[in-house]
Amino acid sequence: MELTITKAKHLKPKPQDESRLGFGKIFTDHMFNMDYNTEKGWHNARIEPYCNIDMDPATMVLHYGQAVFEGMKAYRTPKGTLQLFRPQSNFHRMNASSRLLCIPEIDEHFVLHALKELIRVEQEWVPSSPGTSLYIRPTIIATDVFLGVRASQTYRFFIILSPVGAYYPEGFNPVKIWVTKRHVRAVRGGIGEAKTPGNYAASLYAGEQAHKEGYTQVLWLDGVEQRYVEEVGSMNIFFCIDGELITPVLNGSILPGVTRDSIISLARLWNIPCAERRIAIEEVINAQKEGKKVEIFGSGTAAVVSPVGTVKYKDEVITINNNEVGPMTQKFYDALTDIQYGRAEDPRGWIEKI
Ligand code: COI
Repeated sequence: MELTITKAKHLKPKPQDESRLGFGKIFTDHMFNMDYNTEKGWHNARIEPYCNIDMDPATMVLHYGQAVFEGMKAYRTPKGTLQLFRPQSNFHRMNASSRLLCIPEIDEHFVLHALKELIRVEQEWVPSSPGTSLYIRPTIIATDVFLGVRASQTYRFFIILSPVGAYYPEGFNPVKIWVTKRHVRAVRGGIGEAKTPGNYAASLYAGEQAHKEGYTQVLWLDGVEQRYVEEVGSMNIFFCIDGELITPVLNGSILPGVTRDSIISLARLWNIPCAERRIAIEEVINAQKEGKKVEIFGSGTAAVVSPVGTVKYKDEVITINNNEVGPMTQKFYDALTDIQYGRAEDPRGWIEKI
């Protein structure tokens, strides 16, 4: 497919103070767009100036949420070159999400080529301060103008870019999580493993309650027994108990995180015992109470590796690892970010240079 490039006539000022980037507030000068209809399939691939999407109020995505998205990052290496981390895995997961949402699949090789072109156009937007990167948000939305409930026949795929710092205001300091038994994020047979807006909408109510109580995030339990840990919503979760790494096994209602997979892969490379299995929240709480060495951390593209220092479960508030970053958490954070930023070798072939 041909890719056309139209450059913006006026460029926005770039952020001067990279320590104040925050997450997802500033957007670059250009975006990638591509359309789908049943006659032409995906077509009209173009990089063009960043602009609003003009939509009829009856556009299907606004009513039934038929959409999928992804999150990945471009990093600036110490030499100034740019690179992506496992972008093929994200586009592959996007197609898996699309299948669950009845959205036509994209050509993973072509969109990676388009993404690299877009980043070349926007290369000056990739920040260079420690802990910063260019966040990439590919999205597909249903664009039929129709109020009946069915899969749309037309779609828009777009990619926008945002220079970012840390996702959590805490940065790489321990966050506080609230385990809810009152709400569920996803259920067996649902679409919990898809990266789709509805899963995030479903998390908002409990998230607001957690914030009111001073917690950063909600830790979701399974939707059937309300016993087994699933994920945090903006990240997957890992427990390290007496040297063994444990993460909930993918069961259809957990997002298959690319960072999650990378951590498991590094653990296996380093011969750290690592289990993907069901883990009840009580097992973690009891391990802590029994004086075992416990660390908890989240993983995600936005969150990277995020230590957890406090867990609230029922009426108990439990401090994990003295509310300090544990050695295992630090090891994975360092190894992953060293690969992502090109400071260390890439033992698994995860880096895609731009
Ligand atoms: C990501 O980690 O890229 C995500 O999409 C999570 C989102 C809540 C920021």
